[in-house]
Amino acid sequence: MNYLVTGGCGFIGVNLIRRLQQVDQACGIRVVDNLTVGMREDLTAVAEFTEIGEKNLNEGPFNGVQLMVADIQDQRLAAKGCKGIDVIVHLAANTGVIPSIKEPRYDCMVNVIGTLNYLEAARTNGAKCFVFASSGAPLGEQVPPIHEEMVPRPISPYGASKLSGEAYCSAFYRSFGLETVILRFGNVYGPHSKRKGSVVAKFIKHIMAEEPLPIYGDGNQTRDFIYVDDLVEAIVLAMEKPNISGEIFQIATFREHTVGEVAEELNSLARKYLGRSSPIVYRDKRKGEVRRNFSDIRKAQKMLGFVPKYDLKRGLEKTFLWFLSLINPTF
Ligand SMILES: NC(=O)c1ccc[n+]([C@@H]2O[C@H](COP(=O)([O-])OP(=O)(O)OC[C@H]3O[C@@H](n4cnc5c(N)ncnc54)[C@H](O)[C@@H]3O)[C@@H](O)[C@H]2O)c1
Repeated sequence: MNYLVTGGCGFIGVNLIRRLQQVDQACGIRVVDNLTVGMREDLTAVAEFTEIGEKNLNEGPFNGVQLMVADIQDQRLAAKGCKGIDVIVHLAANTGVIPSIKEPRYDCMVNVIGTLNYLEAARTNGAKCFVFASSGAPLGEQVPPIHEEMVPRPISPYGASKLSGEAYCSAFYRSFGLETVILRFGNVYGPHSKRKGSVVAKFIKHIMAEEPLPIYGDGNQTRDFIYVDDLVEAIVLAMEKPNISGEIFQIATFREHTVGEVAEELNSLARKYLGRSSPIVYRDKRKGEVRRNFSDIRKAQKMLGFVPKYDLKRGLEKTFLWFLSLINPTF
């Protein structure tokens, strides 16, 4: 199989690439990333790769991992890069609520036009499957657990742009028969997240730097935290399962944990491994952030056979130890 992973130098991308190489050792994986967040060194941590440009882009099957440094807004490169590709996993995005509030137009260009470029490229090159990374953000403020039947009401430009990506995936399946699958990820955490500003990665970085842990609001806001290995397994299932095209799936754990609980658990790991902990400081609640959020994953369980294996405690410990190994390789 030949895969193309947009955003493949990012957090979820590198975890996915590592897993794809385990599932199919003879596969070819083409990464498209503009290196605004993920870097070459992030990809190097999981795979040996060859860097390719427009000139040496082969159009047929290939083996190993290739990196094409490109912006997904580039329609021409998208069309060329998708030649000979069987499966596209579209992860590249302007991620997060806060950047989208700062620059809604840029968020739209990357998340809407960028997605359209790769859907068009997938369709015209005859790709067999297109997996789209969405999130809970399209749904906006809802009474949890959130599920696939809810009417989306985004409260941030990021939610709006991801909803638009979902809409194009649905339309490309129904208009052209392109086999798209939409996965709405919960709050993903795990190894290789050192560049992330999401709560788990941020708290661990503060702990390592001996800094206080900032909580926006009262700490009782909840999220559905999913360990990255479980998330990546859901992506692999989405590629493999027949008869799921055009479908949306919530990919999370069906469990609600508060941000305060995460801070406490990480502090207890800090006491265990570092013999210290970090004080918690409370700051003003941030705009556009939903208060409670967790996902009903029964559709993914039933149709994909998706069962998350990690509980929060075990996942946080594995993540904490990965961060620790960056500063002390004996961990
Ligand atoms: N991490 C989470 O908790 C989470 C939750 C819900 C949804 N998602 C979605 O999953 C996907 C992957 O998230 P992640 O956490 O790995 O993010 P990430 O920021 O670590 O990775 C995204 C990668 O995309 C690249 N990129 C950004 N803009 C690009 C552009 N215009 N052209 C080419 N490459 C570009 C970045 O350089 C980065 O390497 C995103 O679509 C995100 O919205 C993530």
